[in-house]
Amino acid sequence: MRHKPVLLNEVVDMLNCKPNKNYVDCTVGTGGHAEAILERIGKGRLVGIDCDETAIRIAGESLKKFGDRFVPVCDNFTNVEAIFKKLNIGFVDGILFDLGISLHQLDEPSRGFSFMRDGPLDMRMDRTKEGTAGEFVNQLPEKKLVELLRNFGEERATRRIARRIVELRAKKPIRTTKELADIISGVFRKRGRIHPATKTFQALRIAVNGELEALHAVLEKASCLLSIGGRICVISYHSLEDRIVKREFLRLSKGTPWENAKCKPGSASKVKLLILTKKPLVPSRGEVLLNRRSRSAKMRVAERIE
Ligand SMILES: C[S@@+](CC[C@H](N)C(=O)[O-])C[C@H]1O[C@@H](n2cnc3c(N)ncnc32)[C@H](O)[C@@H]1O
Repeated sequence: MRHKPVLLNEVVDMLNCKPNKNYVDCTVGTGGHAEAILERIGKGRLVGIDCDETAIRIAGESLKKFGDRFVPVCDNFTNVEAIFKKLNIGFVDGILFDLGISLHQLDEPSRGFSFMRDGPLDMRMDRTKEGTAGEFVNQLPEKKLVELLRNFGEERATRRIARRIVELRAKKPIRTTKELADIISGVFRKRGRIHPATKTFQALRIAVNGELEALHAVLEKASCLLSIGGRICVISYHSLEDRIVKREFLRLSKGTPWENAKCKPGSASKVKLLILTKKPLVPSRGEVLLNRRSRSAKMRVAERIE
């Protein structure tokens, strides 16, 4: 099954997709949003970035019909300035971030993202990078495990989960998603609405991929690459990400003086954003019924005004 793009109409509208303008999808995945944007922009180009080689390959195949108007780039979006330089791009009219993981990653057992599929504890989006979830689980000191689960999973049973992991890994390394999910299930007496391993898996994925650091590092850089009137849309799927987007947009809405700007594009002396979504946009009930994975999505949008 192909990944269903979340808030698709809202993205195309809020990015203000216009013929012959240029856009960047910093998390192109398998190309759902990218396809809808490319359909709207006439001869305009879309650069699609993803750090997952498989995603870029699938996006390349499914967007072949757009020829060289789709430019796939396999890289981390934190390198967006270098990517622009290499492609000889100055500014663009819209930038999209659709955070989190894609269905092709979640559904593939060998990627180790899901407690519903048994596979090696990997969870790397970029498999050229070191540091799998298995290494975190088997090597982090107990105190660091507690911090990781608390900071990235907002898990309440952190100490009990970390203790159990440390006890069991002393006997034999924890190698698979199922082993880890069973260990966590064993820590909880009662089962709630969500699977007990949900928060631990989220925390590990965020840590393995440095997701919050990447998001924090990229929003100002990306804003600097927008032309005046260009828009930045960010869809997040949990409160930790949404908080970063909200705070960064607020900070950038006060204007970043030239001397402090993280990137210094040619002509612009500072970056100032106008926040277009006082409250984040969320999927309609209809969309959530059709695509349950959209239920936690929140989209924030801002426009560059200086
Ligand atoms: C939710 S999916 C995007 C789905 C896409 N919008 C679509 O419609 O198919 C998020 C994608 O972002 C990628 N990703 C996450 N963090 C990234 C980063 N720091 N740099 C580049 N790609 C990243 C993931 O590999 C994944 O493919």
